[in-house]
Amino acid sequence: MKSYDKLIFEISKPGRRGCSLPKNTWKASVSSLPASLLRSAPASLPEVSEPDVVRHYTCLSGMNFGVDNGFYPLGSCTMKYNPKINEEAASLPGFAQIHPLQPESAVQGCLQVYHELGKALSAITGMAEFTFSPFAGAHGELTGLMVIRRWHTERNDFRRTKIIVPDSAHGTNPASAAVCGLQVVQVKSTPAGLIDVEDLKPLLDDTVAGIMMTNPNTLGLFETEIREIASLVHGCGGLLYYDGANMNPLLGKVRPGDMGFDVMHLNLHKTFSTPHGGGGPGAGPVGVTEALAEYLPEPRVKMDADGTYHIAGCAHSAGRVSGFMGNFSVLVKALAYIWTLGRENMKLAGPLATLNANYVKESLKDVYRLPVDRVCKHEFVFDGLADGSTDVTALDIAKRLLDYGFHAPTIYFPLLFHQSIMIEPTETESKETLDAFIDVMRRIAAEALSDPQMVKTAPHDTPVRRPDETLAATKPVLAYVPVAGGHAGDSVA
Ligand SMILES: Cc1ncc(COP(=O)(O)O)c(C=O)c1O
Repeated sequence: MKSYDKLIFEISKPGRRGCSLPKNTWKASVSSLPASLLRSAPASLPEVSEPDVVRHYTCLSGMNFGVDNGFYPLGSCTMKYNPKINEEAASLPGFAQIHPLQPESAVQGCLQVYHELGKALSAITGMAEFTFSPFAGAHGELTGLMVIRRWHTERNDFRRTKIIVPDSAHGTNPASAAVCGLQVVQVKSTPAGLIDVEDLKPLLDDTVAGIMMTNPNTLGLFETEIREIASLVHGCGGLLYYDGANMNPLLGKVRPGDMGFDVMHLNLHKTFSTPHGGGGPGAGPVGVTEALAEYLPEPRVKMDADGTYHIAGCAHSAGRVSGFMGNFSVLVKALAYIWTLGRENMKLAGPLATLNANYVKESLKDVYRLPVDRVCKHEFVFDGLADGSTDVTALDIAKRLLDYGFHAPTIYFPLLFHQSIMIEPTETESKETLDAFIDVMRRIAAEALSDPQMVKTAPHDTPVRRPDETLAATKPVLAYVPVAGGHAGDSVA
């Protein structure tokens, strides 16, 4: 039996200990606490030995798959390698052992991190100023849209309540707009996968707050009409929001600020190599043009003439969007990444990500259906197998990849196709890794014809095989309730 077959509570044995604590010499004792705060019975904690704990969690960690385990071509997620030097920088005591309420004079180095990262991101994106408060991409979207709303309302323009979102957009775009109280209006894509400018034109009037776009879009295609779109949207008084989650292929090549965008977010946990998914917290800094800088959330870091830093408020701010100043350790890691690469190497990241994606696409397009056959940027989308004579689905292919030791690509997104398989290799993979992946993808395509059952029943070699995703979404199990006798209890939603 493997140590992960049971929960830690299920291997508990009454009286077993895994630690020895020094005798409590603290003056206060439980008896000095008010009776209303005391437990009536001891907390139900697992009682396990140290080897039990170590084996249990070591086994569990082995069930996880991350960029440190293998290739992780999860389209739209930019699962690039997380350099270990970033972790080293973030764990320096001066960064790791600070408290958000320390006086500014005691955290000048940390405030400098905000300042330097802001400068670097401005140079990379063409935006004038950044806020580091948002904790994720979607949080950045909401923040950016709050800035856009603030811009309009400060000008007494209260009619602008609509936001235009392409049908290819990431789901967080319409969701963030709705949370911000904006009405989402969809603009169609052309058969070539780009925004349909003719569909956009009639949507533009004085009720439009702006448009949300990502470029390259979620099909990995560069929106070539971006200048015309920018001038049309600005022409009607709207602003352009750039979803910078897809910034990776543009690094060092094109700047959203130069394309005409007014507000944008970046996913530091994608483009700037900080861990994400199960690997760590994120950061979705929001950048704006000079004209919008006064509407960014508080607090912000400012540098005085003598080179010292202070934390500033802002009279016209869209408000606060998080406690204190965002996920600081993520910011340190992103700055370490930028400074390690330097300006010249940073310019290579985007083109290499683009090269890798096109290499994989071209190597597989005879066996997987490629609905939009163009040079892509950092990612591309297949629509199932080229030979559709069997009922092998995108899900089956994704599951079978796990048997071969690869993480699955993103599937069933974007919603433009029925069997979307979205692949993003990133620039951090070697040709050997890409070739091994291509080889396995071709093998699976062949198996789908010769032995479809093998693919349809995959994975065959993982601790968890095909969980009921509908049940998991509709009745999520969020807590474990132990029952008397120490056996597994019912779970509660
Ligand atoms: C294009 C795009 N926009 C926005 C997001 C949202 O970012 P986050 O997951 O950090 O909220 C993602 C995340 O996958 C994305 O791919």
